[in-house]
Amino acid sequence: MEATAVENKNLLPVEDDWEEFLQGRYKEGKTEEEFRNYDAEANPGVAEFYRLNHQFQSHEYVLGKEKEYFGLTRGKKSIWEAAEFLNTLVDDSDPDTDLTQMEHLLQTSEAIRRDGHPRWMVATGFVHDLGKCLCLYGEPQWGVVGDTFPTGCAYSDKIVFPEYFKANPDYNHPVYSTKYGIYEPGCGLDKVHMSFGHDGYIYEVMKNHLPMEALYMLRYHSFYAWHRHGAYEHLLNDQDRAMLPAVLKFNPYDLYSKGHTKPDMKELKPYYDDLFAEFFPDKLDW
Ligand SMILES: [Fe+2]
Ligand SMILES: [Fe+2]
Repeated sequence: MEATAVENKNLLPVEDDWEEFLQGRYKEGKTEEEFRNYDAEANPGVAEFYRLNHQFQSHEYVLGKEKEYFGLTRGKKSIWEAAEFLNTLVDDSDPDTDLTQMEHLLQTSEAIRRDGHPRWMVATGFVHDLGKCLCLYGEPQWGVVGDTFPTGCAYSDKIVFPEYFKANPDYNHPVYSTKYGIYEPGCGLDKVHMSFGHDGYIYEVMKNHLPMEALYMLRYHSFYAWHRHGAYEHLLNDQDRAMLPAVLKFNPYDLYSKGHTKPDMKELKPYYDDLFAEFFPDKLDW
């Protein structure tokens, strides 16, 4: 436990860079052109992160990780326990200005609540990043956070830093490098093996407990090539198209809800106790 925390000490600085990078990338009013120029030189840490991510997230890697994690064999935890577990990841040099993982979750869910959205969406805001506990299971950062994308078919040039896919073994694969790859046209995203990360994992944990809109918000919140850039239309089915507005509705809360006031845990706890009791069993499989 101790060792894991130390090993993951590097998680947060780059992760914060990544979130800043995302905010810059999707600043309001930014053109597609400006998005493309938001490049490696300006963000070397983030570029290096994506270089590794794009190189190693092959289809075979993804299938292996799905097998390892999607059976949910890592024990039972309540939502609070999972959030506290995730909080052990935080080891920041400046605790006064930076938020803990739990605080990011609460700021996201509180912003959703303030805007009068349904209770299931508030719950979704709280749990959306709990899958980052993958880092505590020893997964590398490039295998936990960052943009997600389909594997087993050609990479879209709308994925950030597309040139880094050249180092992925699937880049020249006879099947995986084709437009449809292993998929049927319009097969639907549910059939697609997305690059592995905290989004897919939290979806597995939550899939029996929240409505479909919520599950799309969780599962695809980092699939920017789709929800922000319209890529992979050829794999979508009607359900995906119907759920896109929900994914888009959630995205600003993830990107922009980070403020500098720390949520008051003590005050908020009773509300969240009720909320969790409404949607989740005491303990969930992780
Ligand atoms: Fe996330
Ligand atoms: Fe988030």
